[in-house]
Amino acid sequence: MTNLLVVNTSQLVTLAGPPRPRVGAELRDIGLIVQGAMLIMNGRIAGVGTRAEIEPSTKDAELVDAGGRLVTPGFVDAHTHLVFAGNRADEFEKRCAGVTYQEIAAQGGGIRSTVRKTRAATEDQLFEAATRHARWFLQGGTTTIEAKSGYGLTTADELKILRVIRRVGETTPLRTVPTFLGAHEIPDEYAGRADDYVSLAVEEMLPQVAEGKLADFCDIFCEAKVFNLDQARRVLSAAKSHGLGLRMHADQFTFFGASDLAAELGAKTCDHLEQTRPASISLLKTAGVQPVLLPGSVYAIGSHKYPDARAMIEAGLAVVLATDFNPGSSPTTSMRTVMSLACTQMKMTPAEALTSATVNAAYSLNRGDEIGSLEIGKVADFVIHDAEDYRELPYFFGDHQAASVYVSGQPVVAT
Ligand code: NIG
Ligand code: FE
Repeated sequence: MTNLLVVNTSQLVTLAGPPRPRVGAELRDIGLIVQGAMLIMNGRIAGVGTRAEIEPSTKDAELVDAGGRLVTPGFVDAHTHLVFAGNRADEFEKRCAGVTYQEIAAQGGGIRSTVRKTRAATEDQLFEAATRHARWFLQGGTTTIEAKSGYGLTTADELKILRVIRRVGETTPLRTVPTFLGAHEIPDEYAGRADDYVSLAVEEMLPQVAEGKLADFCDIFCEAKVFNLDQARRVLSAAKSHGLGLRMHADQFTFFGASDLAAELGAKTCDHLEQTRPASISLLKTAGVQPVLLPGSVYAIGSHKYPDARAMIEAGLAVVLATDFNPGSSPTTSMRTVMSLACTQMKMTPAEALTSATVNAAYSLNRGDEIGSLEIGKVADFVIHDAEDYRELPYFFGDHQAASVYVSGQPVVAT
């Protein structure tokens, strides 16, 4: 493996800090080295500092000239629905005409329409679609994603999706962390029998997912007209007994205590939280649950109620930002767009947004010792941006690609 010496950066933003997710003022401390340099040996970071500090310990390293540009860790996207067939541009058009996301779901569209298409697709067809999405993530500077199943809703189709997630991680440069989301929606054939579907998920799906080591985490969409608190408790408790970590779609449209359940069960993350109230934020803090905020989904469904990121940061929560990439509520793979929304709509600072999109996200996936910051010993997943200053990442919004992306010290995107 070639050793690399990255030089001529404008800013090397390391995100170095304590070996745990960052809270409070730590979110604004991004470990910025002006004109920093970085040594990479055997795909891992072997030195970080100024060029003068690092060069003496460098043997046989190839120079990577960053061209006076910004270098950061690769983005870590801790909430995506990577694998699905087709898209829902037709529903988007209806939403533009005033029909709501929930009305479309109640009419049999929404998640269930993607389920019908995903069931009809072969594993290879889904892999092809997911590979296309993986390329989008990498081109935007994302090097690791969490990816959920949830558009199969039969045992065979959920396992099919989880195998595709694993295959994307094995055959493309994008790292994937799989999550079982069998309880994403009540499938058409179980209409009015949600408890029976939960039994299927608990008794048939989860044991096979665990047996095949197909997921690190289990998630559920806990929401009015989808899964209630009792059903969520059943699914998540069973997942825990199989050794899976817990994540939860909670408080997205309706507040009825879903985030409190995440705290009670010791979930790793609680995601969405648009409707969450102050008392629940305290419970999440006490239980050490990381909030994963998804402003892209608020924006794309045309809502104005963003999660209260400032209250969560004040309360000491280790905030994470993610895209929620999916064909309905959040059709974007862009972490920069998400950071931009976090700054403009949730009043996070650019530094807080960057920490939430990298190192905090890595810890929420139990990968904080390997990725998320540019520190000695971690894998060399980094991005050379077409920018000079980290504040440009959320400031320029819309169409942007990373200049170069490296995974384990190997170039995977070059423009
Ligand atoms: O996180 N809320 C549930 N799941 C997704 C939406 C999935 C879809 O619309 O297809 C979300 O917003
Ligand atoms: Fe989601």
